[in-house]
Amino acid sequence: MRNLTFIDRIISEMDASLRTSFATAPTTERPNPSMSIEEKEPLTDEEKRLSAKLMRINHAGEVSAQGLYRGQALTAKRDDIREQMERSAMEENDHLNWCENRLKQLDSHKSYLSPIWYWGSFSIGALAGKFGDKWSLGFVKETEDQVVKHLEEHIVKLPVKDLPSLLILQQMKEDEKHHADIAVSAGAAKLPWPIRRLMMPLMSKVMTKTAAKI
Ligand SMILES: [Fe+2]
Ligand SMILES: [Fe+2]
Repeated sequence: MRNLTFIDRIISEMDASLRTSFATAPTTERPNPSMSIEEKEPLTDEEKRLSAKLMRINHAGEVSAQGLYRGQALTAKRDDIREQMERSAMEENDHLNWCENRLKQLDSHKSYLSPIWYWGSFSIGALAGKFGDKWSLGFVKETEDQVVKHLEEHIVKLPVKDLPSLLILQQMKEDEKHHADIAVSAGAAKLPWPIRRLMMPLMSKVMTKTAAKI
């Protein structure tokens, strides 16, 4: 494998950000979990609006996850950790595509602020990586734990008829749990309380409130 120069890396990161925000990013081989069922009863307009709002928030979260992992992979010290983060980023792309696909089926749109979610998270990820692998992994563990809680709330809020969205969110929840577990096995440190309980929930609140609307 050839060694990438600094310029190569910048170009590759610009490419990833554009694909994440505006096109289709590289995914794994896994099928979309919602493909396995057919919608029996159509959703009402109101149900569609609610599902779309939730799926738009989740899509924005996946754009952020992508930025975080790419930023962290860029500054990770150990090669095995970088590779692990790149695999997780690809699984987050599956989530991204599943959410986007569902938004289209619901006749809705993704957040218009994707590039902001992406680059904001990329910067945070790159900074976390700079503190060293154990802190960066600790950040992954905490982020994924918070995402799991958030997905559990969305699963309850979804209209009961919306099985395709439910199947997507359930698979995402399993994957996020797995991402947290592998971060722990790789040596994640526990983040300080103010970061876990104040800073991260605040950032996620800003994002969810904004992405729900724009
Ligand atoms: Fe995800
Ligand atoms: Fe994840």
